[in-house]
Amino acid sequence: MTSVSMIPPTQQHETSAGSRFLDDVLRGLSARRKTLPSKYFYDAEGSRLFEAICELPEYYVTRTETALLVDIAPELAAFVADGAALVEFGSGASAKTRLILDASPQIDVYIPIDISEVALSHAAETIRADYRGLEVIPLVGDFTRVLELPSAVRSRPIVGFFPGSTIGNFESAEAERFLRRVRALLGDGALFIVGADLAQAPEVLLPAYDDAGGVTAAFNRNLLVRINRELGASLDLDAFEHRAVWNEAESRIEMHLVSSRDQTARIGSRTIVFIEGEVIHTESSHKYRREVFEALVERGGWRLKTAWTSDAPSFGVFLLDTEGPEGVAVTSPMNIESSPSGEIS
Ligand code: TRP
Repeated sequence: MTSVSMIPPTQQHETSAGSRFLDDVLRGLSARRKTLPSKYFYDAEGSRLFEAICELPEYYVTRTETALLVDIAPELAAFVADGAALVEFGSGASAKTRLILDASPQIDVYIPIDISEVALSHAAETIRADYRGLEVIPLVGDFTRVLELPSAVRSRPIVGFFPGSTIGNFESAEAERFLRRVRALLGDGALFIVGADLAQAPEVLLPAYDDAGGVTAAFNRNLLVRINRELGASLDLDAFEHRAVWNEAESRIEMHLVSSRDQTARIGSRTIVFIEGEVIHTESSHKYRREVFEALVERGGWRLKTAWTSDAPSFGVFLLDTEGPEGVAVTSPMNIESSPSGEIS
C-alpha cells in the first residue's frame, strides 16, 4: 500500500499504537463505570468474527441494509458526479461498496479507510481485481483521525460512504464531532451516504446482539483476549459474561461484559478490581427515530437531502449534502423524500 505513509493515523499506529491502547484500556477500566473503546474490537480475529456476525440469522442489520442498497443504488447513482472519489469510513470487507460501485461506474477512485490492516489490504486487493479501471487508495488507521485526503482526489467530486450503522456506535456528542470532521475532510459540495438503524422492538434487537450460537459473545470477549495478548494482562476470560441490554432512555443496545465474581487483573503496572456483577460497557448501538437522526446530522454541519427506509426491521439510508451556495445542485428528479418501500415518518 503506497499511500498509507502519507496519512497521520498510520504514523500514530506504528509509533505509539501499543501505549495508546494501554492508556485507553487503563483509562476505561479506572472509571467508576468501566468502559472499553469499541474500536479495539477490530483486530484480525475481531474483524473475522464481525464478518461472521453479519451472516447470522439474528443479525438483521447487514441483510436489511444490503437489500435496501440494492433497491436504491440506481437512485443514489443519479446523484454521483462523473469522476467522483468514494471515501468509505470503516470499510471492513467492502461488501456493500460493491453495490455502490456496480451502480455508479462514473466513480474513478475508491478510498477505503479501516483500522484493521488485514481486512483492509485483503478488501483493497479483491476490489482492485474486480474493478479494473478503479484507482484504489487504502488508508489504514482510526477513521475518526484522518485529517487529509490524498492530493490525487482533492479536485474530484467527493462522496463519503458510512454504512453499517457505525454512526450509531458513537455517543451523540462524538457522532456530532465525527460528522463535523468528515464535513471538513470531504469539503464543500461533498455528498455523504450514511446507513443508520432505526428503532424497533427489543424482541428483534436483543437477539441481534446476543445470538444463540454465541458469535457475538465471542466477538465481545475477544476484546479481553486482545488485552491479554497485546498488553500482557491477566484477565480471566472465563470470568466475564457477554450481555446485551436495551437502554430505552438512550434508545440504544448496550454490550456489556459482566464480571461473574469478585476478581482482580493485572494490566500494565496496575491492578484492576472487579466486583461480582460489575459491568464493563464495551459498545453502544443507537437506534434512531428519523427526527433525532436529522437533528444530529444538522448539528454535524450536514443537510439531509434524501432518506430511504426499509420495511421492518426498519433501516435508513440517508443522503447528506453540504448547505449553501456551494452545495450540490439538484441533479435528479428523484430528489424527493421517497423510497421504494415507503417514506420515513
Ligand atoms: N455497527 C454495528 C452495530 O451497531 C456494530 C456491531 C454489530 C457490534 N454487532 C455487534 C458491535 C456486536 C459490538 C458487538 O450493529
